[in-house]
Amino acid sequence: DLPQILEGKKVIVTAGPTRERIDPVRYVSNFSSGKMGYAMAEAAAALGAETVLVTGPVELEVPVGVRAVRVESAQDMLEAVLAEFDSADAVIKAAAVADYRPKTVHAGKMKKQEGDSLIELERTADILKTLGRRKNHQCLIGFAAETDRVEEYARGKLERKNLDYIIANDVTDPAGGFGSETNVVTLFGRDGTAVPFPAMDKKALAMKLLERIFGGARDDR
Ligand code: PMT
Repeated sequence: DLPQILEGKKVIVTAGPTRERIDPVRYVSNFSSGKMGYAMAEAAAALGAETVLVTGPVELEVPVGVRAVRVESAQDMLEAVLAEFDSADAVIKAAAVADYRPKTVHAGKMKKQEGDSLIELERTADILKTLGRRKNHQCLIGFAAETDRVEEYARGKLERKNLDYIIANDVTDPAGGFGSETNVVTLFGRDGTAVPFPAMDKKALAMKLLERIFGGARDDR
């Protein structure tokens, strides 16, 4: 009996890490568990949205009523999101996309050698920035994982990537960030608003964030 505030809307959520291959048995990645993104997808579906979850490799079960598209690398994620984007009403980018990938992907397993080794990295495509350039009616919601100057860096990303909202987590807070059950965030809007949310379970937080963004909820944080 939740208010179906996203009925008739298509929402794309991205979740989890990406993996950037070094060779057939090794990769570069990060500690995202996918919990925050899966919680956002579950909440979007519960509020009535047609929900597409573009997910990096994680151990979680896909929420009921959510269509999952499984990807590995940042490039895969870009392509999967673009394929769904034109018909979408909102994109929520909770994924921790790798900013760099190995410049060379070795076809065979790299052999151990004497001494040190270097892996040269190159930039991946910035998915949100690409969407920010392409959007016409879509609402774009980013996440920002910061360790310092949280507001300044988060607002910088909101501007540069042409977003409508950015949800900033201070990943140095023990109650939030990568892997934990809970998160503590501030929602920054394009209009200059800043709404802090206290530490809470990622599922409860996801619901409150979507109600705030799409439902005009004002006083029940
Ligand atoms: O998965 P959990 O363990 O539950 O952890 C949740 C989380 C900490 C991963 C999540 O809450 C979060 O903060 N996700 C975004 C992490 C991140 O990559 O932040 P960023 O500041 O590097 O990127 C900013 C935004 O740009 C993000 O929305 C990201 O998806 C997007 N981005 C980044 C790089 C890139 N190449 N393409 C992108 O679209």
